[in-house]
Amino acid sequence: MNDPVRGGVESWSGDRATRWVRQAAGIERQLAPVSDRLLAAAAIAPGESVLDIGCGTGPTTREAARAAGAGGRVTGLDLSEDMLAAAAGVATEPGSAPIDWLQADGSAWSPPEPAAYDVVISRFGVMFFSDPLAAFTNFARVTKPGGRLATAVWARRGESEVFEVPLQAALRALDQCGAPYEPPADDDGPYSFHDPASVEQLLTAAGWSSVEQTTHDLTLLFAGGASPQDAAPASLDFGPTRIVAEGADDETKAAIVAEIAEAFATRVDTDGHVALGGRIRVVQARIPDA
Ligand SMILES: C[S@@+](CC[C@H](N)C(=O)[O-])C[C@H]1O[C@@H](n2cnc3c(N)ncnc32)[C@H](O)[C@@H]1O
Repeated sequence: MNDPVRGGVESWSGDRATRWVRQAAGIERQLAPVSDRLLAAAAIAPGESVLDIGCGTGPTTREAARAAGAGGRVTGLDLSEDMLAAAAGVATEPGSAPIDWLQADGSAWSPPEPAAYDVVISRFGVMFFSDPLAAFTNFARVTKPGGRLATAVWARRGESEVFEVPLQAALRALDQCGAPYEPPADDDGPYSFHDPASVEQLLTAAGWSSVEQTTHDLTLLFAGGASPQDAAPASLDFGPTRIVAEGADDETKAAIVAEIAEAFATRVDTDGHVALGGRIRVVQARIPDA
């Protein structure tokens, strides 16, 4: 449960959550193109009830609440108390559906009867379960007949510059400093849903049908629109770069930041903001009609 890559109570609370919450506004701008694809696939209609899995600080939960409108109902489910506390502190737009914030582990959750949700959504919140089959079976149980799933997941790490550019720069700096590190996995943790065939098999076994997966190559503004100098230190807070840099001393961390800033300087858009590719898949499925 406390594997630093796969997730767990510890790893999504404390310092990791503090860093995420601190950067929440930048993350939100960075991931806006992902939300656009996810919400388009979810096609939430006024009056629908929505469950947002691994909702974090709640950006997509609030968007779902806006789409469902005052007659709808939305639940944001997350394992981390710290993330949910931040989520609950942000007001929703007038006219939005009311939101319930629910602390639960998707794998170990005992969902209420009867099935209550029209739509289950998630932006990068489904890849960390200790038991993915149990989790997706739970989500199937709470979804009404004919209800639908839409979730955004990452492709393999090496297919997204947004991870690869800062990571490779960090590894160069670590090598130059002679600092030890464990090469992070390319296909676990955030990337554990990279294989469409395994994802389809998992969802089908959990009770979902009509599985469709669409690949999107997006341009993501690192830290939501930042210069190389500002984006480089922010990269130490996330993903594989966070993991390899975690144990480094201050001098090595400074060398990592300098190397990343140099790599980022070659990847700026016309506004001078670091812009990198991110490959995601939007996974859709349904619960068969009764
Ligand atoms: C990458 S963050 C995504 C947060 C949010 N969906 C967003 O896009 O900003 C992953 C989220 O999944 C949550 N999470 C991890 N393991 C979980 C589990 N077993 N059950 C429920 N939530 C979990 C974490 O606490 C974290 O908030």
